[in-house]
Amino acid sequence: MLKQGGLVAFPTETVYGLGADAFDQRAIEKVFRLKGRPSHNPLIVHVSGPEMAKRVTATWPSEAQRLADAFWPGPLSIVLPKSRKLPAIVTAGGDTVAVRCPDHPTALTLLEVSDTPLVGPSANLSGGVSPTRAEHVYDVFPDDEVFVLDGGPCRGGIESTVVAFSNTPRGHATILRPGLVTPDQIQSVLNIPVLLANKQPSSDSGQPLPSPGMLDRHYAPSTPALRFASSEWGGVAARLEHTRRAVVLSFEPRTIDVARHTLLILPSQPDACAAGLYTMLREADAARPDLIVIESPGPARETADPRWLAVADRIQRAATTLGS
Ligand code: TXA
Ligand code: MG
Repeated sequence: MLKQGGLVAFPTETVYGLGADAFDQRAIEKVFRLKGRPSHNPLIVHVSGPEMAKRVTATWPSEAQRLADAFWPGPLSIVLPKSRKLPAIVTAGGDTVAVRCPDHPTALTLLEVSDTPLVGPSANLSGGVSPTRAEHVYDVFPDDEVFVLDGGPCRGGIESTVVAFSNTPRGHATILRPGLVTPDQIQSVLNIPVLLANKQPSSDSGQPLPSPGMLDRHYAPSTPALRFASSEWGGVAARLEHTRRAVVLSFEPRTIDVARHTLLILPSQPDACAAGLYTMLREADAARPDLIVIESPGPARETADPRWLAVADRIQRAATTLGS
């Protein structure tokens, strides 16, 4: 199907991807069209390893090799200068391409058998919650347009870390999207400072290019969703008084009116929370409440374990703050 310009959704260790041959312009146009993805948002290219990555990149710096040795196959996408042979549509006209080698036997077999790099945006409609099960993909894309490889639930549950070192302040790497590969893990491999794209130190003059897709609201359920810090629970409780039906996702038990509202407890460990987050958001959405409220992990958790940064990032994109 891939060789004939078709689309094949495949499981990875993070979320399901919507695959197409990275060198097939028409197939990639179809990926953008089916997802409703804005043409300014570039696609990640999946590869079986560094050798395949070199087919889509113009350079393969030692930093890339060190990151690949440490984290591939795994949830890390590396942004590098693109090869001129790679169609411009893949990178939304930009000079760089994000490459990643997924840690999933089905995805790796697909890449090896097809022997071509595959674009693989998350297999959801643009702006929606990423799919962590094959059913989530069947539910939105027509069978005659997308063939789905069912690999069961994804164990990671949130999208890969995206890291760049070109177009960033010299001698720095920048995390464009946090994921389960953490800034300190990257720092310990590269021995250079690692910045978070949305948390620039104010002393820093060079503005890195943000990841284009990170400008928009993302990963959001269709129900209005509100996030809160634990200390803001009082305000949430007051809001719930005036809400007909709400689903509350919280790290702690909360006193709610159970006749109207539902409480779901978020896992206390970051990996488990990441793995279950999108399923819980979908479950909350499917109950068709008037409001979803979700607790942010908060600075104490984020300091204790930087994997919480990735969970906090997705919650931030899925939900607005109390008061806004
Ligand atoms: O875990 C993942 O990365 C999943 C699975 C399927 O591999 N894929 C995924 O792809 O999340 P997608 O297209 O939904 O998200 C790609 C993100 C977007 O935020 C996009 O803007 C960013 O990576 N990105 C892609 N290419 C880029 C580039 N050249 N420079 C900066 N950001 C880029
Ligand atoms: Mg996506």
